[in-house]
Amino acid sequence: MRSHTKKDNIEYHFIIEYFRKYLKSHLVAFFFYILTVLFNLSIAYVMMQVLDKAIVNRQMNDLIFYLLCYLIGSMLLNVLQVTIDYIYDKIGKKILVTLRISVLKHLFKLDGESLTELNTGFMLSIMHSDIPLLETVLTKMFPSIIISVLTSIGFILLLLFVQPFLLLIILFFEVLTFFVQKKIGDYVKNINEEFINNNTKSYSILQEIFSNAKNVIIMKGILFFTHKFLSNERNLMKSDLKLEVSQTVSNAANNACNALTNFIVLGIGGYMVLKNKITIGGLVMFLNYSGRLLSPISVISQSYIQYQQAKISINRILNFMNHSTKSKHNGIQENDFKGDITFHNVNFAYKDKRVLMNINLEALNGKVTNIIGASGSGKTTLINLLMRFWDINSGIITIDGINIKDFNLSYLRNKISVVSQDVIMFDDTILNNLILKQKIDMDEVIKCLEMADAYDFIMALPNQLDTMIGEKGVTVSGGQRQKLALARALLLNSPIIIFDEVTASLDNVSAKKIENTILKLCPNKTIIIITHKLSISKLSDYIYVLDDGSIVESGTHEELIILPNGIYSHMYSMK
Ligand SMILES: Nc1ncnc2c1ncn2[C@@H]1O[C@H](COP(=O)(O)OP(=O)(O)OP(=O)(O)O)[C@@H](O)[C@H]1O
Ligand SMILES: [Mg+2]
Repeated sequence: MRSHTKKDNIEYHFIIEYFRKYLKSHLVAFFFYILTVLFNLSIAYVMMQVLDKAIVNRQMNDLIFYLLCYLIGSMLLNVLQVTIDYIYDKIGKKILVTLRISVLKHLFKLDGESLTELNTGFMLSIMHSDIPLLETVLTKMFPSIIISVLTSIGFILLLLFVQPFLLLIILFFEVLTFFVQKKIGDYVKNINEEFINNNTKSYSILQEIFSNAKNVIIMKGILFFTHKFLSNERNLMKSDLKLEVSQTVSNAANNACNALTNFIVLGIGGYMVLKNKITIGGLVMFLNYSGRLLSPISVISQSYIQYQQAKISINRILNFMNHSTKSKHNGIQENDFKGDITFHNVNFAYKDKRVLMNINLEALNGKVTNIIGASGSGKTTLINLLMRFWDINSGIITIDGINIKDFNLSYLRNKISVVSQDVIMFDDTILNNLILKQKIDMDEVIKCLEMADAYDFIMALPNQLDTMIGEKGVTVSGGQRQKLALARALLLNSPIIIFDEVTASLDNVSAKKIENTILKLCPNKTIIIITHKLSISKLSDYIYVLDDGSIVESGTHEELIILPNGIYSHMYSMK
């Protein structure tokens, strides 16, 4: 029971926290809001005076005076309204940015499992649907409820003072029309939901088609997707039409309700004017403001719906924020980092799937360590563990004798660069893809490009280093991407560099060049080369052969080559 109450309060605490953050601006805006209530009431009163005091009594001076008051009051009211909106908009936009940044920061701290299971659609909807939905709830929702209640009480008191009987009749009538309007509103809302659902479906079908257009053609899927899109488009058209019609009908019904209210006010009020029970000014005030008397009910009911939606969004955001992270802020950050890696009796499973068994391995600074194994034997997993995307189940991994769990996580990750199997290029220029916003000397960039054998092909591109690459840029071949990734890793200049199948998609000449580069890095770095080919193993200082999650052979090329029935020697003889 207690935990239930606690859960209920999560959203409430979230909202309060954001109120507190911008308390000063909230107080200023609220003060202006209170002024608008006073101005609204005063303007209504002045309006009555224009008719009753000035026009009816034919007093020119009074007319000028009250009209001036009316004009100045209305202008000031507008200025106040703009100021209030500006303050709340500013708070709202700041909150959006803060929330989005904190989601993004959290994302980069997630552990490997959460990262693997991350759903792009879910993340995008948090960023683009859930967070914007909170803007009103976290800014002006509660103040506007209070203000609409205060305004309405003010008008009720004012009209009560003008003509209590007419007020009672109108209130009764308004309650009736309120329920009619609500029923119509609910109906339109349901149709609107149907429309939104169909629209979302259409959006996701299109996304699927656009991101895979080439594959759709290759797989002969054109007919399938066209049909899928068309049938949804038909539903969308139907619900769109239904929505348009129901909106028109609902507008007409609302107008009819308003006309009826005016009819009652004018009818009964007019009769009262004839009988001298109300002044002309009083009647005009009823006509102008009686429509607002029940506005707090609709403000509250709309806010309630918004609040319910916001609660769902807050929960989705908090759920994501509760995903486990691997952050260790207070870990070791300053040490004489050399980069001597050891795995000692390491066992690891992804959930229930055992992947590494009793791994003992050493990769030392100044040496090239080669890990060889068939596809799926667990090579990339070794990197995942070293970078702490996952933590091991038993054993210990150390760098320079320190358990990697004791390092500050970003410090540790900054010390390791990985040139990985799947190279990602961002939608930016080649240069930005290489330096990733760091301040790097151009000479250094060119040196690294030459080392990665990428300089020549970049210079042949139309805009050279400023050529756009990635999603909307030029397409480079798989091998060229690999070279760029290598140059990027070299620029990072980390003490540990891991090459995961870097030469797999390269021709022999390029592969040889890159292998030479890697070997040249060796004197002051820890180099780990992961391959399922033997190309570089002869030049490596030490070789581990990984088979189905266990290290089955280890030694130098010369030692392994002579092992009878050894996997390595068998692979070498097949080469
Ligand atoms: N995130 C994950 N969750 C569950 N299982 C995984 C995950 N990543 C890898 N595996 C499994 O772990 C095993 C080892 O994968 P790993 O990527 O380490 O192999 P690899 O030796 O690098 O293979 P390749 O040479 O094909 O790159 C595979 O059976 C794979 O299915
Ligand atoms: Mg791999």
